[in-house]
Amino acid sequence: MTDRILVAPSILSADFTRLGDEVEALSSYGADYVHLDVMDGNFVPNITFGAPMCRALRPRSDLVFDAHLMVAEPAKWVKDFADAGADIITIHAEADIHAHRTLQLIRACGKKAGIALNPATHHSAAEYLLDSADMVLVMSVNPGFGGQKFIPAVLKKIEAIRETAVRRGLDIDIEVDGGVNAETAKLCRDAGANVLVAGNAVFKAADRKEMVSIIRGN
Ligand code: DX5
Ligand code: ZN
Repeated sequence: MTDRILVAPSILSADFTRLGDEVEALSSYGADYVHLDVMDGNFVPNITFGAPMCRALRPRSDLVFDAHLMVAEPAKWVKDFADAGADIITIHAEADIHAHRTLQLIRACGKKAGIALNPATHHSAAEYLLDSADMVLVMSVNPGFGGQKFIPAVLKKIEAIRETAVRRGLDIDIEVDGGVNAETAKLCRDAGANVLVAGNAVFKAADRKEMVSIIRGN
């Protein structure tokens, strides 16, 4: 885990007609990651894009590609995303009865492994996965759509996961995803999160560079 707060704009809120240019511009805003929201219309009630989009966008940026798989049976797609150039591959605990095995598979592909928890999922769902994960993604909205309102109840979950990680001496990133803006970003940072996803807050901002810096907290 880095001490620095990292900002991961979600391209779900970008202009899809100019996605390559949108991704290319992210480094000029000071962003750290490109967050790719992959939805299958099964695990979540929406469909976005798959590994071919990751592959197509890959040459447009040197930033870390952060693939958030909101799909049923994510193990089926791990290799495709690894081959398509994702650097971090995150699966949902609720979507995989063999999440531990899938995290190992992600690492065996040479990628960082993330485990995501829906707002209704207790932090204990990640308890036995922390040794096999590089990141825990705490959903602060119900996955499926950008532009939703932040659920403050997840702040306690972020605190609990950070407390566990510190107690166990684990070097783990905590990413928060959904409804992160200038106000809620501070709450997440104070609770112990160090990677902040922001879709609408960044892409709808008048000054995207300034917004990335506000979310980072400087
Ligand atoms: C929700 C996605 C989020 C979302 C973030 O299913 O995982 O990444 O697009 O968008 P905002 O920041 O607009 O809530
Ligand atoms: Zn996401």
